[in-house]
Amino acid sequence: MRIILISLFFAGYCAAQTATNLPPFEFTSLPVLIENNENYRIIWSTTQFGSAKVVVKQKDGSQKAFSDAVDGVGDFQTRIHRVDVPKALLEAEGASYCVSSLRTVDTSRYGYKMGEEIVSAPHSVKVNRSKDDIAFLTISDVQGGAKLARTVLDRVDEPYNFVLLLGDYSNDYNSADDYIEPLLCLAYQASKGAIPCLYVSGNHEIKGTWSRLTNKIFPTPSPDEQRYFTYSFGPLFITALFFGDDHSDDMPRYSGLSEFDAYKDREYTWLVNDVLPKQEWKNFRYNIAVTHIPLIRADNDLTVTHFCNECNKTHGYKLPEFAKVFNETIKPQVMVSGHTHQAQLVTDPSLSFPNLQTGGHQGRTKFYYTSLVRFVNDTISYTVYDSTGKKTTYPIAPRK
Ligand SMILES: [Fe+2]
Repeated sequence: MRIILISLFFAGYCAAQTATNLPPFEFTSLPVLIENNENYRIIWSTTQFGSAKVVVKQKDGSQKAFSDAVDGVGDFQTRIHRVDVPKALLEAEGASYCVSSLRTVDTSRYGYKMGEEIVSAPHSVKVNRSKDDIAFLTISDVQGGAKLARTVLDRVDEPYNFVLLLGDYSNDYNSADDYIEPLLCLAYQASKGAIPCLYVSGNHEIKGTWSRLTNKIFPTPSPDEQRYFTYSFGPLFITALFFGDDHSDDMPRYSGLSEFDAYKDREYTWLVNDVLPKQEWKNFRYNIAVTHIPLIRADNDLTVTHFCNECNKTHGYKLPEFAKVFNETIKPQVMVSGHTHQAQLVTDPSLSFPNLQTGGHQGRTKFYYTSLVRFVNDTISYTVYDSTGKKTTYPIAPRK
């Protein structure tokens, strides 16, 4: 009897502690719209585990709620929340949306005990897919430089239609924190939950214990959830490719778990059998390629001939074939890339189009670039903002 009474006392004490000493439950990042086919994936984060709901309100006052339930069950053990909502509802004239989360208090019994609810301010989606004059802002290669990147984004003084998330926000992805400040907070700062973000994976996205989850959180417009896809925005056609890491599959640190040669085989088959026959790029005024790792490097050495000392071999499996498809068939006007942590226009005799390398950090807390790429009147311009406060614009004459 005495043991039971002591157990009951401690159970009651712990319950009281749980109820009164809970840490703050707040938003750590506000909603970001990720392009996901006919939906936007709306992503936000909270300080503690919680649930996810999006309520869309139409001009006539009607409302519709969406959750993150999969097979009937909502997620309550996450700090990163994601809900898919049809674009048509969010883009309707006069529509607005709020995101909300309930704090997860107790999951140790049958059912769930949820706590207080936090609700965002209303946001409105304002997407302008104009016939000409399209621009996007790039954010990539943050990797410890989020605070500096934030100051650079504050200085962007030209409008843009969407945000191109070009990969490498953390060195490794091992917890929710690796996504929140360097990716979600920056993406919200640049998009305000009002314009879409297009996600293109970097090579660091495949590193860390959450690496398989990264692709589940951040979708692409690919209908079969691949990291390679085509995408159009007004007069702009994008072919986005993903080359895995810039090392070989047999690098010792991968312990035989990396299979990007096989991945690139499937990607190449998709490019040749699906993209090329449709020739969709011919229907658009502007035609660009987007890749995190460029087909050429800052030092003008082709990636395909890059020698990796750690692997003790050259790498770049399949990349010459991809370059050949771009050179001879798709013929993009420009290739936009990250990875090199440079902001510059690079040309290489082996490629028939220039490569915009759009920025990132150099020394994390010391220097950061971000770029704005604009397409208007058959001209491409490229504006680089850096952390010294400098803004430089370069015109690029597109290939006819
Ligand atoms: Fe990279």
